[in-house]
Amino acid sequence: MAEQPLAAIILAAGQGTRMKSELHKVLHPIAGQPMLHHLLDSLEAAGAARQVVVVGARREQVEASVAPRGVDIAHQAEQLGTAHAALQAKDALAGFDGIAIVCFGDTPFLRPETVARLRDRLLADDAPRVAVLGFVPDDAKAYGRIIADDTGAISKMVEFKDATDAERAVKLCNSGVTAVRTADLWLLLERVGNDNAAGEYYLPDIIMLALADGDKAVVVETDPDELIGINSRAELAEAERIWQVRRRLLAMTDGATLIAPETVWFAHDTVLGRDVVIEPNVVFGSGVTIADNVVIHAFSHIEGATIASGCSVGPFARLRPGADMREGAKVGNFVEMKKAVLGPGAKANHLTYLGDATVGANANIGAGTITCNYDGYFKYQTVIGENAFIGSNSALIAPVKIGRDAIVAAGSAVSRDVADGELRLVRAEQLVKPGWADRFHDAMRKKKREGR
Ligand code: UD1
Ligand code: MG
Repeated sequence: MAEQPLAAIILAAGQGTRMKSELHKVLHPIAGQPMLHHLLDSLEAAGAARQVVVVGARREQVEASVAPRGVDIAHQAEQLGTAHAALQAKDALAGFDGIAIVCFGDTPFLRPETVARLRDRLLADDAPRVAVLGFVPDDAKAYGRIIADDTGAISKMVEFKDATDAERAVKLCNSGVTAVRTADLWLLLERVGNDNAAGEYYLPDIIMLALADGDKAVVVETDPDELIGINSRAELAEAERIWQVRRRLLAMTDGATLIAPETVWFAHDTVLGRDVVIEPNVVFGSGVTIADNVVIHAFSHIEGATIASGCSVGPFARLRPGADMREGAKVGNFVEMKKAVLGPGAKANHLTYLGDATVGANANIGAGTITCNYDGYFKYQTVIGENAFIGSNSALIAPVKIGRDAIVAAGSAVSRDVADGELRLVRAEQLVKPGWADRFHDAMRKKKREGR
């Protein structure tokens, strides 16, 4: 099979009115990433050399979101239908000769393997002119229908609005994902008319035109979960559910233990090592990498964090962006880390905030220790040396350095650097009054008896 370059045309010019949102529909996140980017990732993985996103309503939002990706933008000023939208990509792809995959920005779960299957079908020996992805959902709703024989040869494409009862009874639905040679695509699109129930230029009509030319058009069927289209918040939640179910299974397949998988929420880019144990009710934000043999205890929230092997996190820990736990480090309950390194074997077991801090190897951060990193205007660093021991309920007022092997006594508010091996004690001298409390109680009880 000759190698043919692939270009993707992603339609995203629609209003998305059913989302009832100021945010463009295709930018609503699934697993913390805009749905459009899920699709673009997939198309990239499928080897698309070019990607053209067709924008219309709220185009500035989409353009800003895809700007770092090096995709092309085409503009559809008026939403006259999917064929009209696809045609807007013509200029952007001028000079490109290969295969175009037209797909919809609100159908984000298309898999690279499926794109490859569709492309291969187009290039098969029976030389179809168009190949389209079809699916059989539980509820065929108002999807366009595909009338095809057992071999996948299409005899008709019909939109729900235009379909007869018999056609509506057909279960095979059009996903919209369509493969055509670019040289052919523009010619076919230019011939599409809008004489139909919606008065729109329908993309599936290019198949009807190919058939009218005496050419072959074929359907490739795939899993409905992959082709779910998102038009409302309820469908967005359903898409999230489908994504999470799949990701949890993958985590387990790859060697993580999830005690209650249905309660663990992954992000699009979560990286897990082997023999990672994740207890119930753990939420991952973006940018988390976890090495082997890590335990994440229940009810932890982890985002933008790097966790080395042998670490233990939580229960009830919060790791924010820049949290960096080195080998065998430990963070216990109600501990928050932000832009902080916890060195190898270091521990912060209870009720602590480590922000803008570096903690050396094997240091022990006592319960209730707070790095006071902010004065209302600027942030400052706290640096804690190896093997340092920070007593409970200490406030480390940054910028401040605690030396190697130093001890900070419990309850200290440390605002000046502590040298290596030093003991720092910052609290009032203790007043000791033996018997004072007994005398106090006696006197007060007497007063009460005398009714005063
Ligand atoms: C479309 C298909 C239908 C298919 C269904 C699958 C057509 C005519 N119908 O119907 O056969 O079963 O998708 O989900 O193609 N868009 C534009 N410009 C436009 C119109 C649409 O960019 O002028 C974009 C939308 O932003 C959206 C996609 O194209 O991403 C699909 O449009 P939508 O209106 O949702 O089509 P459906 O009615 O769902
Ligand atoms: Mg739709």
